[in-house]
Amino acid sequence: MQPTFLTFPDPDAAASDAAARFCSLAETAIAERGRFVVALAGGSTPERLYKILATRTLDWAQITVFFSDDRFVAPTSRYSNAGMALRLLPLSPRTTFPVPAETTLDTAECAAQYEHELIAVLGPEPRFDLILLGLGDDGHTASLFPGKAALTATSWVTHSTPGVLPPPVERVTFTFKLINAARNVLFLATGANKKEKVALWRAGSGMVNTLPVLGVAPTDGTCTVLLDEAASS
Ligand code: 6PG
Repeated sequence: MQPTFLTFPDPDAAASDAAARFCSLAETAIAERGRFVVALAGGSTPERLYKILATRTLDWAQITVFFSDDRFVAPTSRYSNAGMALRLLPLSPRTTFPVPAETTLDTAECAAQYEHELIAVLGPEPRFDLILLGLGDDGHTASLFPGKAALTATSWVTHSTPGVLPPPVERVTFTFKLINAARNVLFLATGANKKEKVALWRAGSGMVNTLPVLGVAPTDGTCTVLLDEAASS
């Protein structure tokens, strides 16, 4: 099923809508299941969203946070997606699970350990209430890059060599299996540099191998894409 694409006048409006969705889903999940299980996106686009969320009344002790992907670097690295979120959000250390890059020898071990942690916290069939994702200029999402083996991984978490976009560092990433098990997937994609891939995505044209974002189709969940006018054709 095609995602729902929504276009906003500018990145701030898109981020504001994303924040409202985040807070609403959190309230519902906590009320119904006692916790909100979310995966945060990396890259630069979510910064606006995280800055808005930092001003909202959220009980982060009841919010379980994983990361839909991260670079194989320490959280203190400027490349770290977890580092960016930890700087901007009052995440609860007890319920926040960064990719264990610092305590593993290589990305294969790191991915295996992250999957182990995921299952320990969420159970054998991990299902997120919300997975936040971005869109790379090359059509990737998370760290599921065109032409890479990670696109066909059957695990919940896998690893990847760098894609063509910077930074040129190894990655650990959710797989389509995990993303598509989510109750809700929410993309935030803004800026003219996303326009070409957004148009191909909306047309449903291409293959997952060359346009990985086409691989996101939740089995029993929603998929919404928040755009600004610059990214919309
Ligand atoms: C990463 C991100 C990646 C990101 C897109 C968009 O680790 O690089 O998870 O998937 O979401 O590349 O990045 P921007 O938001 O910086 O355009």
